[in-house]
Amino acid sequence: MPVIFGKAPGKIILFGEHAVVYGQPAIAIPVLNVTATARVTPILGTEAGKVHIQAHDIQLDTLLSDLPEDHPLAAAIRATLQEITPNHTPAFTIQLDSKIPIAAGMGSGAAVTVAIIRALSAFLGRPLPNERISELAFEIEKLHHGTPSGIDNTVVTFQKPVYFQRGEPLQTLTLTQPTYWVIADTGEKTPTWETVADVRALHDESPETCDTIFAEIGQITQEARLALSQGDLDRLGSLMNRNQALLQDLQVSSPRLEKLITAAHEAGAVGAKLSGGGRGGNMIALVPREKVSQVENHLLEEGAVRILTTILRETAE
Ligand code: MEV
Repeated sequence: MPVIFGKAPGKIILFGEHAVVYGQPAIAIPVLNVTATARVTPILGTEAGKVHIQAHDIQLDTLLSDLPEDHPLAAAIRATLQEITPNHTPAFTIQLDSKIPIAAGMGSGAAVTVAIIRALSAFLGRPLPNERISELAFEIEKLHHGTPSGIDNTVVTFQKPVYFQRGEPLQTLTLTQPTYWVIADTGEKTPTWETVADVRALHDESPETCDTIFAEIGQITQEARLALSQGDLDRLGSLMNRNQALLQDLQVSSPRLEKLITAAHEAGAVGAKLSGGGRGGNMIALVPREKVSQVENHLLEEGAVRILTTILRETAE
């Protein structure tokens, strides 16, 4: 039995985080410069069913049978085994390796899950289609953060820019010119479940105010889709800035995010906002091509711990 690999990229949300949990649309793109990989190797001469998990990034080296039901890695492996129901489960080692920053709004949890399902289903002789991988990954996302919208598993599974709305068929984006997105990490790690739970508490406290904010974010996302299709950078920039102001109202920004957002503007970004769960993690700036290095350098001077620049290329008609 050969060694089998499964991969999935990171993701970044351009517009609509948090509001998407409440049914509004959001736009997200894959970040192909960082990936999660699962590598499955048979263990020869051992009893069937033995599953050894190695994830050096999180200092995990254990047997599947020693992990609790709700452990997200164990749950992804068990869900795949259950889906495929092999008559005979060979003993195997699954090694996980991820270059996607954890708790930084880049979908690391979803990407590891998708890599596991992809590698393991192929190893068991029945590679699953993307639709099913994404559905299974969505179930595991619930263990990561309770009430996910489904955007993370969708974008990392299909690896393309998406206009996503809960419960609606997947829509891709039309892009007429390349756009440059600089992603800067504050170094502050806040798990998504925490900010999602805080926004929920805020919504319970002031439902009307929050629903108004979510609706405006949804409107911004719809306009951003149009602006992306027209390659209208100025419009996209001001929509990002307005989206950021609404995320501040939802109390998910942070002083470090604000500092980097200001730095991006100072160096020539047309728009900037936090991305993902917030209260740390990453910010994203839309930058004219000729100003990319200037913005990257200034963000580093102002304390960004990591910079990733991703280009969103035009789509073929
Ligand atoms: C997390 O990447 C984005 C949030 O909107 C949560 C979700 O959509 O599940 C904060």
